Amino acid sequence: MKRLLGLYGLPQSDIVKFLDAARAFKPALLETPPRTFNTLQGKTVVLAFFENSTRTRTSFELAIRRLGGSTLNFTAASSSLQKGETLLDTIANIEAMQVDAFIVRHGDSGAADIVARFTDKVVINAGDGTHEHPTQALLDMFTLRETFGKLSGLRVLILGDILHSRVARSNIFGLRTMGAHVSVCAPPTLLPPFVEALDVTVYHNLSDALQNADAAIVLRLQLEREAAGYIPSIREYNHFFALTDESLSALSEKIFVLHPGPVNREIELSSVVTDRDDSSGKSESLILTQVTNGVAVRMAVLSLLLANSEV
Ligand code: NCD
Repeated sequence: MKRLLGLYGLPQSDIVKFLDAARAFKPALLETPPRTFNTLQGKTVVLAFFENSTRTRTSFELAIRRLGGSTLNFTAASSSLQKGETLLDTIANIEAMQVDAFIVRHGDSGAADIVARFTDKVVINAGDGTHEHPTQALLDMFTLRETFGKLSGLRVLILGDILHSRVARSNIFGLRTMGAHVSVCAPPTLLPPFVEALDVTVYHNLSDALQNADAAIVLRLQLEREAAGYIPSIREYNHFFALTDESLSALSEKIFVLHPGPVNREIELSSVVTDRDDSSGKSESLILTQVTNGVAVRMAVLSLLLANSEV
């Protein structure tokens, strides 16, 4: 495999391969100092981020360095794209400098796919528009599998701005392939049309949705993608759809809370629920565990795609 553009159609055996490889890398990350490898020795990976990112870029960068590879950082804001150069010309020019892989983030759905058709180098989609964000979903699935021991039969709720979320789409495809039950909860305007066709259960009422879930992946209201225009007001959204101690109060069992970040505190998630990482409450946040696991998952993806090696 030379590309990871999405989880749609990716066989279960490939997902398991990524998750198992990540599990093998995780102990090395927790050593002090973290253990490094030379799997990517001599390889240069381009971080082609045409859209903002904190976690995903730094996570890929650390993963590449811990595998002994070098990174080339590229940001759209300071590049010749501002002077009118096309995406493919930019990629062609960087490729001419002899690099081995492109990690692409772009505001347009399909951008990573276009890059992958153009170059025969390794291409990894780090989020394209509202389409897919496969490594985020893999790290979410890794975190759930680590917490619950398995994905099959697990009841995972995805809550929030599903319409604009590439994270939701990748998780729906990946989790369904792994045999998890997926439900979504959002105002009807923040759900994609015909979302039932993705084999998910749809809720518009948060307490009903929570009663039937072992874990909730909460999503950010994507205000930069016009999400605010799809709801009467942020305050109303917060009242009906935010995960807070009040919305959790009717639950009889503890729920595990995930969020891909960045969290809009007090919009989709209360600060208390965001930060509660002890096991005594009605919820337990796995948000920072997800971030730690992200490095292991990206090491797994990079070593399998670039070196065909597992550890
Ligand atoms: C997400 C993204 O950019 O797709 N964040 C991430 O990569 N960790 C989700 C978001 O922006 O809300």
